[in-house]
Amino acid sequence: MIKLKDVSRKFTSRKSEVTALDGVNIQIKEGEFIAVVGPSGSGKSTLLNIIGGLDTPTKGQAEINGKDLRKLKDKELSQYRNREIGFIFQEFHLEPLSTVKENILLPTLFNHKTNEEDALSETLIKEVGLSKKTNARAQELSGGEKQRTAIARALINNPKIIIADEPTGNLDQKTGKTIINLLKRLHKIHNTTLIIATHDENIANTAKRIIHIEDGKIHKQPHHP
Ligand SMILES: Nc1ncnc2c1ncn2[C@@H]1O[C@H](COP(=O)(O)OP(=O)(O)OP(=O)(O)O)[C@@H](O)[C@H]1O
Ligand SMILES: [Mg+2]
Repeated sequence: MIKLKDVSRKFTSRKSEVTALDGVNIQIKEGEFIAVVGPSGSGKSTLLNIIGGLDTPTKGQAEINGKDLRKLKDKELSQYRNREIGFIFQEFHLEPLSTVKENILLPTLFNHKTNEEDALSETLIKEVGLSKKTNARAQELSGGEKQRTAIARALINNPKIIIADEPTGNLDQKTGKTIINLLKRLHKIHNTTLIIATHDENIANTAKRIIHIEDGKIHKQPHHP
């Protein structure tokens, strides 16, 4: 469960002040699939970063999985990011010289090593359709294959929430569609909450709920049962 209460985020420098989020209230239930849409600069990434614990509000409260993120110590916040959230980015953020499997196992480096992790990585490699590329280096992969690797990596620690910021932004339309279908399938199989920021109306329209954001404010949020 995600609860944002009156969340604002201002970026201040000597020259300027930007209000990236302005009094945002959102509740997201476990297992929901949400699309966040809005013009460039409207605050989508800022919103996702706050939910993922990569950024903190300047005002208001983010309560996620029963935790008030403000109250977490640095170490607890890193653990929260590592174990409870799976991140997927437009630019993939893979280690270019590491293999597909090594990249997928990266988030487990802080855990106590178990055979289960290795087995899960093999399962995820199959689920994302990369069995033939297990030992290929990330730099040798196509864009779609890179994003498949990033998706498997996001799932390796069994997170409750998957956050995908423009996951198809660097892919052609067809590949983008298969990546979204894959994300949707995996969010059902693994029972995760899925939050996707996107410019693509077609993608947004396949979500259970759309959050429209404009100038840092929730534009309209259709009532849902
Ligand atoms: N680290 C930062 N320092 C200063 N300003 C920032 C920072 N991050 C974001 N902003 C500003 O906050 C506003 C919202 O940015 P954000 O990245 O959340 O938008 P977005 O909706 O994700 O845009 P896009 O669709 O282009 O990715 C923008 O005006 C941006 O310039
Ligand atoms: Mg963005």
